[in-house]
Amino acid sequence: MMAAKPTTDVPWWKSGIIYQIYPRSFCDANGDGVGDIQGIISKLEYLEWLGVRAIWISPIFPSPMADFGYDVADYTNIDPIFGTMDDFDQLLQQAHARGLYVLLDFVPNHTSDRHPWFVESRRSQNSAKRNWYIWHDGKPDGSPPNNWKSVFGGDAWEWDADTGQYYYHGFLKEQPDLNWRNPDVKEAMYNAMRFWLDKGVDGFRVDVMWHLIKDLQLRDNPPNPEYTTSQPSYNQLLPVYSTDQPEVHAVVAEMRKVVDAYDHRVIIGEIYLPIQQLMAYYGPQNDGAHMPFNFLLLNTPWFAPEISAAIDQYEGALPADGWPNWVLGNHDQPRLISRVGEHQARIAAMLLLTLRGTPTLYYGDEIGMRDVPIPVEEIRDPQGIHMPNKDLSRDPCRTPMQWSAGPYAGFSTATPWLRVDRNYARINVEAQRNSYFSMLSFYRKLIHLRNQEPALNHGTYTPIGATEQLLAYRRDSPLGDSFMTVLNFTSRPCRFSQPAPPLTGEVVAATAPEWENMSIQSDIYLAGDEGVLIRLKYGKNTT
Ligand code: GLC
Repeated sequence: MMAAKPTTDVPWWKSGIIYQIYPRSFCDANGDGVGDIQGIISKLEYLEWLGVRAIWISPIFPSPMADFGYDVADYTNIDPIFGTMDDFDQLLQQAHARGLYVLLDFVPNHTSDRHPWFVESRRSQNSAKRNWYIWHDGKPDGSPPNNWKSVFGGDAWEWDADTGQYYYHGFLKEQPDLNWRNPDVKEAMYNAMRFWLDKGVDGFRVDVMWHLIKDLQLRDNPPNPEYTTSQPSYNQLLPVYSTDQPEVHAVVAEMRKVVDAYDHRVIIGEIYLPIQQLMAYYGPQNDGAHMPFNFLLLNTPWFAPEISAAIDQYEGALPADGWPNWVLGNHDQPRLISRVGEHQARIAAMLLLTLRGTPTLYYGDEIGMRDVPIPVEEIRDPQGIHMPNKDLSRDPCRTPMQWSAGPYAGFSTATPWLRVDRNYARINVEAQRNSYFSMLSFYRKLIHLRNQEPALNHGTYTPIGATEQLLAYRRDSPLGDSFMTVLNFTSRPCRFSQPAPPLTGEVVAATAPEWENMSIQSDIYLAGDEGVLIRLKYGKNTT
């Protein structure tokens, strides 16, 4: 069953908000300390209430969990830790019944080393599936074929003594890279996509899209002149031959064709690249990914001039008809609140939810969850374990969702796989849901405004100005409605000097309740960390 049809001509993935669920940590219905599909089902009511339009679920496929599901051993099944295919069908049906779209996490770059394809591939150099992965002889002295490094530390080549060759793994050695130059691999993977699309899944977030194709000659990557030892060892080299190869775009276009054979589906690409390279993933005719994830704000220093420049760079670089999107957090990054600080959390929410482009919200950010300090002996993330002392573990941002002040924050009845933040008695959904000015209510208010207002939803973006302290921009709908956002990125008061004639209107949402419904006629004096969203009296087309 499909989700309810969109009510406007604007496709759902442009008008709606995407909510990322890290399934291990969202809700545990069967009491084993790990979140599951039934847990997600039990929270659909919450997600509908919050107002998000789609959920993207990190991998739930059978996996030895070396990288917590990003090492897939069967692309068309469900791992028992998360439930059964029946559970998944229920989830899809119930989500759709509530008008929520469901995106799966497709991991095409690598499989688990336990995937039957790899088991067969490593059996012998003559295996029919040998060429499904990237196997190569060592150099004459026995060393690996080239200098490529694994994102998770160490060499990217693993020696297989039984068959006398190396195989390539951009991530863990338990995650061998598939050979995407092999048509059989492509067909097998496209069929896996079709399996889920046939069920009615609304699209995919595609894992490490820019890694899919590697240099045919396997040339050495050059040293990175800007490397410092505090960085992961992967950064010692510039991955110019191991990632973002020109031929990748043909593969992305093929994936797009696979989903375009179905109505209203979407592909979102996970791509960490500089902006111009990122834009290429839209495809020359907008026939690539519908949305290459925009991670710009994850690394932009949290200052008004920097943020303002980043937004303009992104807006300016977008191809014609390329639809923007914004991300402030995911399961690989420090939590939003731990990057920008508690005082700026509401400014960040206003930014995310009033910019032009689809926002992706990471579970828990809406209640202000923070990075949780995880004692060394409890670290679970392979990235943290393989590169100790570099503070790279992703566990802190993956802790159980805080639902209530009950045991284990209402996440589970058993000890959770990762510890719960000790602040859960204060920071939880139940406590915030009925509190008018909680973080959760604030997010919900902004989400609903965005859902209802065409100007916020898909109107144009025009910068009004940025100072050392503040950022102001407007959003205008073709229908004539307009909004202005003014955000103070500092803890000191600041003044927004109005242009002449001034933009007048009424505050519809603000970081502090005192601002609500206030009429704006002239300059705006914001206290530290304050932001206002104003419905302008005269829209752009009516002035
Ligand atoms: C992506 C995922 C990350 C995973 C990696 C390898 O970056 O988001 O969690 O570890 O790919 O699959």
